[in-house]
Amino acid sequence: MLISNQIKYSMEFSYLKLGLLSSILFSFSCLTISQSTEPPKTQYVQDADGHQLQSGAKYYIFPVMGGNGGGLALSAKDFACPFYVMQENLEASNGLPLRFLPVDNKQQSINLSSDVNIVFNAATICVQSTAWKLGGIDENTGRRYVMSNGAIGHPGVDTLSSWFKIEKYGSGNNYKIVFCPSVCSLCKVVCGDIGVFNENGKKWLGLSDEPFIFVFKRAW
Ligand SMILES: *[C@@H]1O[C@H](CO)[C@@H](O)[C@H](O)[C@H]1NC(C)=O
Repeated sequence: MLISNQIKYSMEFSYLKLGLLSSILFSFSCLTISQSTEPPKTQYVQDADGHQLQSGAKYYIFPVMGGNGGGLALSAKDFACPFYVMQENLEASNGLPLRFLPVDNKQQSINLSSDVNIVFNAATICVQSTAWKLGGIDENTGRRYVMSNGAIGHPGVDTLSSWFKIEKYGSGNNYKIVFCPSVCSLCKVVCGDIGVFNENGKKWLGLSDEPFIFVFKRAW
């Protein structure tokens, strides 16, 4: 009698736990639904003049903090090819113009937080594309740098490392670039900000804890 009471008690107890758990889960899922239906405040990326960033148009990227170097360009790193993405040391240097190509190539404006290819509007001595790509872990520094020879279009597992996103940073038209591709739903990706590493007098772009904050300036 005593034993069966104990069993009954523990059964009731686990039912109670189950009920509690499901009500927590239920309220949690309601919370997620109500959050995702809320419309985002700023949908499109804007240049420094407040115009929507146009797909395929040319832009320079300039750091927000003055005296912090110039625009972005390509440079040879450990080997002749491929080139790596770097920031000009001189504030007065514009660097090379960039084009932004959204995953949906019919789209005119660039959305915030959506997959884009980033391509330098330039030619190099390397017979390779000037599209950005996040490289693998560097043997010497343990860092992952942004390099050229990326893919354009063809979203999926094979092009994963060539997709970046533009995210708003703070107030105004300040932005950062993140690596966090959504082009492959089954892929496990390590997301992170794109920042700048000072190494032997050169500023290389790569996956970093500290994002590179910048504005877009239209190039004509
Ligand atoms: C960009 O935003 C538009 C307008 O809301 C939307 O229709 C489109 O699906 C978005 N594209 C991407 C790739 O997120």
